[in-house]
Amino acid sequence: MRSTARRSHGLAALALLCACSADEVVPARAGGAIEAMIRAAAGSVPELPVVGPHLNWSPFLCMMPPAARALHSTVEAEDGHGSKIYALRSNQGGPYMKLGTEEEVELPLFTVLIKEAFTPVLHAGEDAPSPHSTPGWELAASHGYIPFAERDGLTYRTGASRGLFVMLRLPEGTPDTMDGWAFGTVDPAGRVTGAGAMESCIRCHRAAKHGGLFGWQAE
Ligand code: HEC
Repeated sequence: MRSTARRSHGLAALALLCACSADEVVPARAGGAIEAMIRAAAGSVPELPVVGPHLNWSPFLCMMPPAARALHSTVEAEDGHGSKIYALRSNQGGPYMKLGTEEEVELPLFTVLIKEAFTPVLHAGEDAPSPHSTPGWELAASHGYIPFAERDGLTYRTGASRGLFVMLRLPEGTPDTMDGWAFGTVDPAGRVTGAGAMESCIRCHRAAKHGGLFGWQAE
């Protein structure tokens, strides 16, 4: 009795949501669903773990394992996501780090990979705080990573946000994906500016060695 009432309640809510009868329901475009998923993935960024080199147990009780550092994109061209520094975030950091090793595994469904990109700003002051120092750890605790990157002997700090570059693993054969990988871009204001089989991403990622992924780039 109770469950029937609950069920009819649910159905009424659904009917309200659709504002139409069952035979008028138009299936949502796949693109719309992917856009919603990209938006949800972007919303998870503050909590999504930062991927970094394997953390090791410290041999000394008073030392913490090094925190992940912001990385320089190896893509030189301004058109891809070159000339930015980024933190890579993922819900599958462990398996991602195994790409290109003997233990390589396929990343599971609903793997999210997000490059959180920033303009690099030359840091003219002192050196970047060491991942082993207290200031380094304070930064890592508040940002999830140490917001500095080095290149050619110079130190850079993360400047203005340049948005998010998202890849999301969906079942193989999902429309509007590259063999199951959906791409997305989110601008610094949080607006989804692209979602699905984005040609501007696929032109590079199609050739990436690990099933559409480049894998961890050791500097
Ligand atoms: C010019 C080539 C190029 C284009 C275009 C490009 N990428 Fe990438 N992408 C790379 C390379 C190379 C890497 C490896 C990391 C690095 O060096 O930046 C990468 C890494 C990534 C990663 C980390 C996962 C991995 O492959 O290891 C994500 C997520 C990503 N790109 C998203 C995107 C999105 C979204 C777009 C489209 C808006 C895009 N990329 C366009 C070259 C490209």
